This record gives sequence, C-alpha cells and structure tokens, in this order.
Amino acid sequence: MPKPSVPVPGFLKRWATSLVVRRIRKKGIDLSSIGFLPEGTKVPLQREGTDPLPQIAEWREHEPMRKLDLPFDFTAYLVTGYEETRQILTDRNSYSNDIRHLFSGDGPATADDVGGLGFTDPPLHTRLRKIITPEFTMRRLARLEPMIEGIVDRQLDELEKAAAENGGVADLAQHLAFPIPFQTICDLLGLDYDDRETFAGLGSARFDATNGAAAAFGAVSAQREFLFDAVARQRVEPGPGLIGQILRDEGDAISDFDLAGLADGVFTGGFETTAGMIALGTIVLLRDPAYAALARDGSTEDVDRVVEELLRYLAVVQVAFPRFAKADMELFGTQVKAGDVVLASLAGANRDPKSAGERPDGFDPYRVPESGHLAFGHGIHRCIGAELARMELRVVYPKLLKRFPELALAQPESELAFRQLSFVFGVEELPVTL
Ligand code: HEM
Repeated sequence: MPKPSVPVPGFLKRWATSLVVRRIRKKGIDLSSIGFLPEGTKVPLQREGTDPLPQIAEWREHEPMRKLDLPFDFTAYLVTGYEETRQILTDRNSYSNDIRHLFSGDGPATADDVGGLGFTDPPLHTRLRKIITPEFTMRRLARLEPMIEGIVDRQLDELEKAAAENGGVADLAQHLAFPIPFQTICDLLGLDYDDRETFAGLGSARFDATNGAAAAFGAVSAQREFLFDAVARQRVEPGPGLIGQILRDEGDAISDFDLAGLADGVFTGGFETTAGMIALGTIVLLRDPAYAALARDGSTEDVDRVVEELLRYLAVVQVAFPRFAKADMELFGTQVKAGDVVLASLAGANRDPKSAGERPDGFDPYRVPESGHLAFGHGIHRCIGAELARMELRVVYPKLLKRFPELALAQPESELAFRQLSFVFGVEELPVTL
C-alpha cells in the first residue's frame, strides 16, 4: 500500500530549500549527506553499477515530465528524454540558471557562486563567458598537450611506485584520476609550483569528508580566497596561463573578485568531472580485453571513438544545472509555473534510443549514434572545457594501457566505492594491480 502523503508545512520547505542551496554552493553539489530526500527523488543521482536506475528508462517512455516529490519551496520536474533535454538546454529565453533568489532575493548573480558561469544568466553570463572563451580555443589548448603528456607520465610513475610499496596494489583514483585534471587546471590557470602545493592541500580537504563537513566547507572558502590572492599577485606580474592572459587582455575591466570566481568555476567544472571519467572509463575498458586493446593499440580515430562512447555511456554529470521557469508555460503537456525547476537527466538523455540508437545501455565504441551525446550539455551553458577534457582522456587511456598491459581491478567491480547521490558520478578509490 502506498503511504498517504502528508503535506509539508511551508516554513519546513523553506528551511529544506535553503539547506540544499547552501550545500550546493559550498560543497560542490554533493547531496549524499542530506538524508531526508524522499526515495523517488534520489533516482536521477543514483546508479546500479555504472548504469542509471531502471526507473529512468521507464519515465523516459511513459512520463517525459516526471514531477519530483521534493520537500522544498519549489516544484521540480525531471526530464529524461533526449529531445526534451535538448529542447530545454537550447531554450535560452524561458529559463534562468540563477539560484540565488532561493535563499536571499538580493540582486543578480555574480561569478562567486559554485560553478561560476553555470549559475549565471545573460547578459552577465555572456560577458563572463566571452572573457574566458579565447583560452579554450584549440590553438590555446594545443600548448597544454605536451604538458598533459608529461603529467600523465609522471603520475604513471607514481602509480607504479605506490604499487611497489603496497604489495602490488595501488589506488588509481589517488595516483592518476585526480592528479591529472588537478595539474592540468593548474597549468591552464597558470599557477606556479609553490601555489600548487597549497592549492592541492585545499583541494584534498574539500573532497575528503573524513574531517567532517565543517572542514570541507572551510576548504571551499579557503580555495576561493587562495585564488583571489593568486589573481591579486598576478595583477602585478601576470603569469603564463589563463589568469595572466585575462589580466593582460582585460586589465581593470575585470575585478580580482570576478576573475577569482571564474577561475574557481573552471576548477570546479573541470576537476571532479574529468577525474570521474578517468577512473570510471578505466573500469569500463577493463571489462573486455577487446575494449582495452582498442584504446591501447588503436588508431587516433579508434581512441576518439572510445572516448566519445565513454562520455556518452558514463554521463558523469548526471543532471544539468537546474533551470528555473521564468514564466508560466506548458511544457511537454504539463502546466509549469514561473519559478518551477526543470532538471534534465543527461544520463537519461544519453541512453535514449532516439539519440544513441540500438542497445543504448551497452558500451559499444563502434556505435553509430542517431545524434550527438549530451555529456557536455548543449546551448549557452555547454561545457567550455569539453575539448580540454577530451584531450586529457585521449592521452591518458592509451598511455595507461600501454604502460601496464596487465592492468586489472584489485577487487570486483560490484565492491567498488561508487559515489552515491552526487551530481558528478565517480568512484572514490580504485585499487588496481599493474
Ligand atoms: C569529462 C569532463 C567534463 C564533463 C563531462 C563536463 C560536463 C559539463 C556539463 C554537462 C556542463 C553544462 C551543464 C548544463 O548546461 O547545465 C558543463 C559546464 C561547464 N564546464 Fe564542464 N565538463 C567536463 C570538463 C570540464 C573541464 C575540463 C572544464 C574546465 C577546465 C570545465 C568547465 C566547465 C564550465 C566553466 C562550465 C559552465 C559553462 C557555462 O555555464 O557557460 N568542464 N560541463
């Protein structure tokens, strides 16, 4: 018998909403410690192994706009289909990404929110995005490729050393998946080596829950302060990376505060996502020697195929940034009110047969999809770091599998510590033998 639903009082909804929003702002969008969410609403952030839960496919077919029974101050809908998701992400006029009205109501968003660009609307979003776009063109990114190769080689040495010191087993997440995007973003931003040491300490505190939530929150604001200091120092002597280049191009037109916010957004957007892809992608490739062989010995095109299919199949950013309806409207047959939230399941959209084609739940590097995947989103908020992420993944998988052709998981996949309820899916530890 389904339980009768008890109405939640308004003040409790407002409290719950502000709690979640504060957490999203401070903790990098991980809801795992918010235990009060009703079971059905956790579905878009949960997995069975690396697969979305079966409900996602069911809703995609029968409930294109699934109302989520959230105890918050707003009504939320989940879309799980490819066409619906694409339509929402493309429509730049009907939705706002600004979450600040939920808890304060004071003015427009600035870049100091977690994710920076992701939580801002035009015209501020347009202005800020235009400032960092030149740093993400293929020409500017090309300078990072040799650096990424060097980083990967160094971390493979570290992995080997760790295994030698630990009876043949090493944690691939700790020695490879996290350090690669971390070092890459430091190079991209142009942080010098002393800065990196400090920054690394803050980074690990941020993602390490063992010291308690308060320590993690402290590390987040410390990280922003640290970037603010780095910007202030580079204003006097601009460095070789993104921070220095923007200071040279924009001068006083951009404040230290706005630039630190942008840098923080780049870090938040590029770190956990790429780390998740490196670790999870390795797990998938080790499932079948034919996949590993394709990534190890295949041509450049083969490696590209493997990377694109891993991006589609894993969809590590499980749900796009929340979109708030700006006005009352009808959406896929449902009456939506201004202020309602629409969540788009990228994991659901990527497994839609309408986009992926046959056997959407299988991993198949030779897939000929009906249309491009949405792992990087779509529209004005589409991932600005997509080409950088691809570059890292195209370097890391072949190098890893060439260096250690006997690479294997040290424990069964079903026993791995996959993330629970995080917007960015991943695995905390990945013990392997070399
Ligand atoms: C495989 C790795 C990555 C994945 C799967 C990924 C995925 C995404 C997705 C889905 C969005 C858009 C969400 C939406 O529209 O609601 C996004 C936005 C963003 N990503 Fe990535 N990302 C990755 C790597 C990176 C990297 C390497 C960087 C930078 C170094 C980065 C920086 C950003 C930023 C700044 C935004 C906000 C863009 C905007 O709102 O205009 N991401 N990412």
